[in-house]
Amino acid sequence: MNVVVVGAQWGDEGKGKVIDVLSADADLLIRYQGGNNAGHTVIVGDDEFIFHLIPSGLLHVGKIGLIGNGVVLDPEALWSELDQLRSRGIEVQQAVKVSDRAHLIFPYHKRLDVLEEAARTGGRIGTTGRGIGPCYVDKVARTGLRVADLGDTDAFAAKLKVAVEEKNRVLTKLYGEPPMAYDELLARYRRYGELLRPHVVNGMQYVREAIGQGKRLLFEGAQGTLLDIDHGTYPYVTSSNATAGGACTGAGVPPTAIDRVIGVVKAYTTRVGEGPLPTEFSPDLMERIRTKGKEFGATTGRPRRCGWFDAVVARYAVWVNGCHAIAVTKLDVLDEMERIQIGIGYRQRGRVLEDMPADLERLSRCEPVYETLPGWQVETSSAERFEDLPRAAQAYLRRLEALLGVPICLISTGSRREQAFKVGRWEQSP
Ligand code: GDP
Ligand code: IMO
Ligand code: MG
Repeated sequence: MNVVVVGAQWGDEGKGKVIDVLSADADLLIRYQGGNNAGHTVIVGDDEFIFHLIPSGLLHVGKIGLIGNGVVLDPEALWSELDQLRSRGIEVQQAVKVSDRAHLIFPYHKRLDVLEEAARTGGRIGTTGRGIGPCYVDKVARTGLRVADLGDTDAFAAKLKVAVEEKNRVLTKLYGEPPMAYDELLARYRRYGELLRPHVVNGMQYVREAIGQGKRLLFEGAQGTLLDIDHGTYPYVTSSNATAGGACTGAGVPPTAIDRVIGVVKAYTTRVGEGPLPTEFSPDLMERIRTKGKEFGATTGRPRRCGWFDAVVARYAVWVNGCHAIAVTKLDVLDEMERIQIGIGYRQRGRVLEDMPADLERLSRCEPVYETLPGWQVETSSAERFEDLPRAAQAYLRRLEALLGVPICLISTGSRREQAFKVGRWEQSP
């Protein structure tokens, strides 16, 4: 069975943890979009791992992780991630593959990311500053350099020269910044080319052969549906298709090769960076949940904004991704609440909208409509089955299923690997 795991909110839903759990039943793990803007946390025993580019299931021995063509790859970040895993005893030499069609992030992308943010007149997006947007801009403009270009060739040197000259014109003339040194960049990226060579594969061919051999594929989405370039709260989004469709383009597989899609949601909502968050908490509740849920970015350390579960957002994500089931994480963070609210619609001038409007101006005029449920005020972190959960927690989860129209397949009640259990038999649903 080939499964896509996708964030169904604004990222940081706990995808890393869910993927780690589900990877036990997969062979090939594939990241299909985004770059090292992602931070996916996996905690095994007392050890915490934060994956940025490398698929989050690689702590399981014998799995292969592929960085797909849809990813934008910063070789320096990849090398440092490989090094860190190696130093902690994880085998990466054979286990990590990189698609030759993935686009490369260069230092000028990172500088432009920061400069463009500072210059944005309509307000900042709050990007991670990793050069993600500018690299995708070059990809779409057909001026980008890909992994396949890396090497000790005249062609690579020539392409890089054109790119550096163009970026230097922008850096110096538009921003009054110093230019970048072409020779230094060429030498540095040639070295990366050598280091990466053992990992590079023809991504599509690799995936096709794996499917042919009956391997089980697990596609790892980064970011979340509401950060998707097409389906998110544009322009407060990332620059790639984080939704399930991105798995096809970003890994080179046909839609018919995908058997199941799982959306990951937190039991509440968070977002980091700017942009709308309709069910955002009041400051005191924000502080309480942020502290209990340790809601600080895994990549940038920024505090995350928190709010009630927004069923309008999650329902939209279930539809646009075609989710067969959802995984609910961080239920334990709500353990102490006296009462719990769920945003079930947006009210605008007396009318209730049940869908996300595209126009953020209109969204900002909407007030969420809440439904209130009793809290359970019992610890859930040691639950091993649905039946172990307090009644009120069961009722909350059943209500989420009813509002979203899909079953829950996995519940997580703590950050460690063993603090999660599967529910129902969603794999067998039509
Ligand atoms: P991702 O980007 O979707 O992989 O999520 P992040 O790793 O950025 O953020 C999720 C955070 O929540 C991490 O610190 C996880 O260790 C933690 N986490 C995941 N599941 C649970 C859970 O069920 N309960 C608690 N308390 N923490 C969790
Ligand atoms: P994971 O995979 C949460 C947000 C940034 C910013 C916007 C654009 O860990 O869920 P970018 O650097 O991508 O151009 O920034 O997207 N963002 C994330 N928010 N989780 C992420 O990844 C994110 N990756 C990007 O904060 O608002
Ligand atoms: Mg994250």
